[in-house]
Amino acid sequence: MSSDFIAIGHIQDIPRRGARCINTAFGRIAVFRTAEDEVFAMDDRCPHKGGPLSQGLVHGRAVTCPLHNFVISLESGAALGADEGEVQTYPVRLEDGRLFIALSALPLAAE
Ligand code: FES
Repeated sequence: MSSDFIAIGHIQDIPRRGARCINTAFGRIAVFRTAEDEVFAMDDRCPHKGGPLSQGLVHGRAVTCPLHNFVISLESGAALGADEGEVQTYPVRLEDGRLFIALSALPLAAE
């Protein structure tokens, strides 16, 4: 495990098809868990008008923003379909149920 990754809890802390947030000096990050127990992380800000993606509906590897229904890819952070925009994503690792996020990516995201 690279020292760039820090522990952020256990997968059981996140409801299936839901998300939990972690607060960082660079803003709030939403950590999503899919129905297949995959985990993804991205800024908790919709590229449309900043809606809280962590409160959206997870379906497949995407989340639908609760405000105006943009659909965001959890893998790339890109808005899908006819919508435009992109959210900063962060690598997450899952080891024996424990979650680690690459916070070393954050300073780049803050630029
Ligand atoms: S703020 Fe997310 S769709 Fe408008």
